[in-house]
Amino acid sequence: MKLEGLADKVAVVTGAAGVLGRAVADRLWSEGARVVAVDIDRAGLERHFGDRRERLECVDANLVEEAEVEALVRAVLSTQGGVDFLVNVAGGELKPSRAYPDVVESRGMHPIESIDWLTFQRTLAINLTSAFLCCRAFVPHLKARGSGRIINFASFATRHGSIHVGAHYAAAKGGIIGLTKTLALELAPYQITVNAIAPGLIPHGPIRSPALQATVDRIPLGRVGTPEDIASVVAVLCSTAGSYTTGITLDVNGGLYLAP
Ligand SMILES: NC(=O)c1ccc[n+]([C@@H]2O[C@H](COP(=O)([O-])OP(=O)(O)OC[C@H]3O[C@@H](n4cnc5c(N)ncnc54)[C@H](O)[C@@H]3O)[C@@H](O)[C@H]2O)c1
Repeated sequence: MKLEGLADKVAVVTGAAGVLGRAVADRLWSEGARVVAVDIDRAGLERHFGDRRERLECVDANLVEEAEVEALVRAVLSTQGGVDFLVNVAGGELKPSRAYPDVVESRGMHPIESIDWLTFQRTLAINLTSAFLCCRAFVPHLKARGSGRIINFASFATRHGSIHVGAHYAAAKGGIIGLTKTLALELAPYQITVNAIAPGLIPHGPIRSPALQATVDRIPLGRVGTPEDIASVVAVLCSTAGSYTTGITLDVNGGLYLAP
């Protein structure tokens, strides 16, 4: 049975070439939504969505650039005529991309003394500025529809604290929670709900680090999360069933962190 309220709605999903973003785009699409899959990784979008044409459009955009976000909005309005859901998944760890080609991926711990100014600024940009710019640019068009959903991506690292990802990333995701609560209040009169999801551990591949394995061993539900675990919560929030839920950060983490 399909969720109510998703068929033919226009969903803009950022970070859609990534592990969680593509699961979110797939789920909303399979519920009947019209999906605009956005990412800076054009090849990744093509790889995943390339042969699917019906109700799906891919847009290559660097979401830390105001002009590219404005161009994205114009593209969505011209092809879809409006927007109903904005799901800001883009972010994660810094990787080389068109935005920052000189980035050197750094694995392992990130003690604060090792986080240089540029890394801090860029981590904030992909995780927080991108969501801010997309919200600012799409809100007038959500208002025009008289209803809508915004879903932002925070993290377990902010809700609980985590020594695995570094203070720069946790700080950026902390900003997401503030953005979410304030927009929830600001947009409630327009029947637009604004929530955040704080995923726990959703691995991109096999877990090799003993420190990370120790975290997995502490998950009360006894397993790591899957991208589909996250996508299903996004789908419910976007559906009619989500219409009275706003301003919250949902911890989707198998019980690893229980909010007070
Ligand atoms: N995987 C997890 O365990 C986990 C846990 C907590 C939070 N999160 C959050 O969930 C979201 C998705 O994570 P993921 O695991 O799918 O990561 P991912 O790296 O697979 O996907 C992130 C996507 O964002 C895109 N992106 C980065 N910078 C961009 C820019 N400037 N413009 C447009 N797109 C850009 C990347 O190209 C990538 O496709 C992120 O916000 C991440 O911080 C993930």
